[in-house]
Amino acid sequence: MKKTLADINVKGKKVLVRVDYNVPLNASLQITNDKRIAATLPTIEYLLKKNAAVILMSHLGRPKGKVVSEMSLKPISVCLSELLGKPVKFVGGDCISAESKKVAADLKSGEILLLENLRFHPEEEGKNAAGEKVKASMDVFAKELASMGEIFVQDAFGTVHRAHASTASIVKYVKDAAVGFLVEKELKFLGETIEKPARPFLAILGGAKVSDKINVIENLLNKVDAILIGGAMAYTFLKSQGVSAGTSLVEDDKLELADELLKKAKEKKVDFLLPVDHIITNKVDFVNKQVPSDADIKATVDEAISEGYMGVDVGPQSLEKFSEVVKFSKTIVWNGPLGIFEIDEFSKGTIKIAELVAEATDDGAISVIGGGDSVSAVKKAGADKRISHISTGGGASLEFLEGKELPGIAALSDKK
Ligand code: 3PG
Repeated sequence: MKKTLADINVKGKKVLVRVDYNVPLNASLQITNDKRIAATLPTIEYLLKKNAAVILMSHLGRPKGKVVSEMSLKPISVCLSELLGKPVKFVGGDCISAESKKVAADLKSGEILLLENLRFHPEEEGKNAAGEKVKASMDVFAKELASMGEIFVQDAFGTVHRAHASTASIVKYVKDAAVGFLVEKELKFLGETIEKPARPFLAILGGAKVSDKINVIENLLNKVDAILIGGAMAYTFLKSQGVSAGTSLVEDDKLELADELLKKAKEKKVDFLLPVDHIITNKVDFVNKQVPSDADIKATVDEAISEGYMGVDVGPQSLEKFSEVVKFSKTIVWNGPLGIFEIDEFSKGTIKIAELVAEATDDGAISVIGGGDSVSAVKKAGADKRISHISTGGGASLEFLEGKELPGIAALSDKK
C-alpha cells in the first residue's frame, strides 16, 4: 500500500499535484466533459484546508513537445476555478518559465496555480526537440518541476501508466510524496474488484482490436467466470472459428491467437461469450462518422456475416443472451464499446449493455467501468449514477486489469 494524503504532512507546504486534465474539448475549445477535473476536487480542497499552496500539473492531448495553442490548459483553469469557486492562477506559454517559477514561488497558502501543458516540453516524455528518446532529459525536467514545490501528490490516475517526468521521475526530487484521494479510490476499487470479486465475475470487453486487449483477456482468464466480447474484435474471434465475417474489421494476423485464447478459456472453464447475431451494413462513412443515405442496414439471422457486409453492432439475439449473463453476475468489469459507438445507429448494443450493467448494480452487483466510450455509453443511457465505480482512466485502467506495474504508482514509497 502506497503512502496516502493521511500519511504526509502538507500543512503550510507547497504541494505539486499531478492531475490528469486531458479532457475532451470541442472546436471552440469548450470542455465537453469535465469529469476528470471534478474528480480532483477532493484532493485540492483537502490541501487547501490544510493551508497548503497547490501547484497543479497536467498534460492535454499529444502536442509532441511543441507549443500548440489549442492544447493550452487555459480553458481548464477557468473550468476548475468555476468548480472550486476560487481563483486559479495560470501562466501560459511554458510550465517552467521564469514567470511560472516566480508565480509558484510567490504562491501563498490556500492559493492554487495551474501550470501550462507539461507536454509542450519534449522532456516530459523523455525526448529531445527532435523527438528522439533521451532518458536523461526527463530527469532534468522533473528536477525543474520539483524545484517549484516541496511535496508531490499523484492524483492523475488516467496517466499513471505513463513513465514520464511529472508522473514518476519527479518523486526522486521532492521531500515526500503520496497518492491523492482520486488515485487512492481508483486503486482500492479496481484492486478489490479484481482480487476479491463476488461471484459470478463477468468481464465485458469491447473495442476494435484483439491486439489491444490480449493481455487483459489473458490476465482476466485467471480471475473471471465469464468474458463477454463485443466490438470489432468479436469478428476476429468468430473468424478464427471459421465463421464468415464479410468485410468486417478483422485482424487476420491475430486469428491464431484468438483461437488460442478461446482454447485457454475452455481449459479454465471460463464462459467465453461471443455475439450470436449482428447488425450489419454495406456502407459506413468512417470519416464523417455517419451512415450514407443509400446504405443497407440489417440484422443477421445468426453469427455469419454475408459477403460485402460488415458487422457494426451486436444484434438483438446477442443482447438477449448477454442480458441473462449480466443479470446474474455479482461483479462486472467493463471496458470498450460493443459496436461503432460514435455512430448513433450503431451504438444501441453498447447503450443496452450500459442499462443492463446499471440494472445488475441496482440488484447488488459491483460494477466498474473504464474507457471513454463505455463511460459515455452509461452517461448516454442516463445510468452513470447507478454504476459502482466509473474509472477516470482508460489506458491506465486497462493496464491495471492486465496486472501490469503502473510507473506513476510504482515510483511512490510504501506506507510504513
Ligand atoms: C488518457 O486520456 O488516457 C491519459 O490522459 C493519457 O493520455 P496519453 O494516452 O496521451 O498518454
